[in-house]
Amino acid sequence: MAAGISFQDLRGRARRKLPRFAFDFIDGGAGNETALDRNEAAYRVQCLQPRILVNSDRALPLNRSFLGQSWSLPFGIPPIGLAGIAWPEIDLLLASAAERAGIPYVASTPATVSLERLHEAAPTSAWFQLYVGKSQEITSDLLDRARNAGYRTLVVTADVPRPGLRQRDARNGFSLPLKPRPALAFDLLRHPGWALRTARGGAPRFANLEPYASQGSSTQSLAQLMAGQSSGRLDWALLRQIRDGWSGPIILKGVCAPQDAARAVDAGIDAVWVSNHGGRQLSSAPAPLDVVPAIRRALPEGFPVALDGGIRSGEDMIKAIAAGADLVFAGRPFLYAVAALGPTGASRLIAQFANELENTMAQIGWSDLDRQCGAG
Ligand SMILES: Cc1cc2nc3c(=O)[nH]c(=O)nc-3n(C[C@H](O)[C@H](O)[C@H](O)COP(=O)(O)O)c2cc1C
Repeated sequence: MAAGISFQDLRGRARRKLPRFAFDFIDGGAGNETALDRNEAAYRVQCLQPRILVNSDRALPLNRSFLGQSWSLPFGIPPIGLAGIAWPEIDLLLASAAERAGIPYVASTPATVSLERLHEAAPTSAWFQLYVGKSQEITSDLLDRARNAGYRTLVVTADVPRPGLRQRDARNGFSLPLKPRPALAFDLLRHPGWALRTARGGAPRFANLEPYASQGSSTQSLAQLMAGQSSGRLDWALLRQIRDGWSGPIILKGVCAPQDAARAVDAGIDAVWVSNHGGRQLSSAPAPLDVVPAIRRALPEGFPVALDGGIRSGEDMIKAIAAGADLVFAGRPFLYAVAALGPTGASRLIAQFANELENTMAQIGWSDLDRQCGAG
């Protein structure tokens, strides 16, 4: 990334380039958006202790092992539904950027590119994220498809018992398909680049769910199908069944309570992902950075912990790792990077994060990411 482009720059550029309903869908949070604010604020108030006189005159190692796989960097790209609203087929851009960089990429159930194409783009990096919905047939077919496509690692998202209540979407009248309204026409006229790209590349679609829609069914009925695919049917018993039917590692995403983390271990889960869905579900949810130490204490030594929510820089990543995370994820920054900088945005953001990580480690005297401080 061009030196000096901060998250705020990227967000500002994305805001100018995207129609309002699209920017707000990505940027917004649940309720009065306090969880969204809290996620970022937790990083702003957290300090790192600089340690001096540690020889760091070499490239500091940023690689990380997680669930038996070796990754080049300690971060990845999380599942993002309907991401094509930022850029047509952005899912493919993100998957291939992750594959090139050797970092995890998580294909979402409501992705705008099919899970099969995403695995082809990222054969060593892609994990599949499952929403467990009302229809058992759809859930088991999605799992079969993921298995057949070659996915080994499954991420089960557990923090969407109901769709989040997002006031910005309600205010913008955002629904799929977009309903023609004067405000929408005006929004599109003011963003001709987005409108043209979307006309050429196709409107965002729920690519994984199309096979389950009745023939000739509309985007609207697909949207309803999707709402049903993130319903509150998932419980510990069903998680157990999913565990028994999946041979690879399973990560439970959306853990905020130490009790749930401990129970996930008993349920045979291989890793927990501390997250409040980027503040999109419950505005009173705690910040992941604040709860990860207690969650770490509730888990057996060395149990793998992922974390996301509010991470905006490599320096933030170091804070999350210092607090107990093994692997971290940044969601919105990747959407803004592509919306702002175009198709190379994701790779440029990965390079910037890597640079910030290495620099921060040198500033605090870390010789590697296992929190080993070279200072005595
Ligand atoms: C537009 C958008 C769509 C998302 N869709 C999904 C999804 O389909 N599945 C899921 O598990 N999480 C989803 N998330 C949550 C992200 O995986 C991740 O937890 C969150 O973005 C992290 O917060 P951050 O954006 O502050 O980095 C979505 C987030 C955003 C912003």
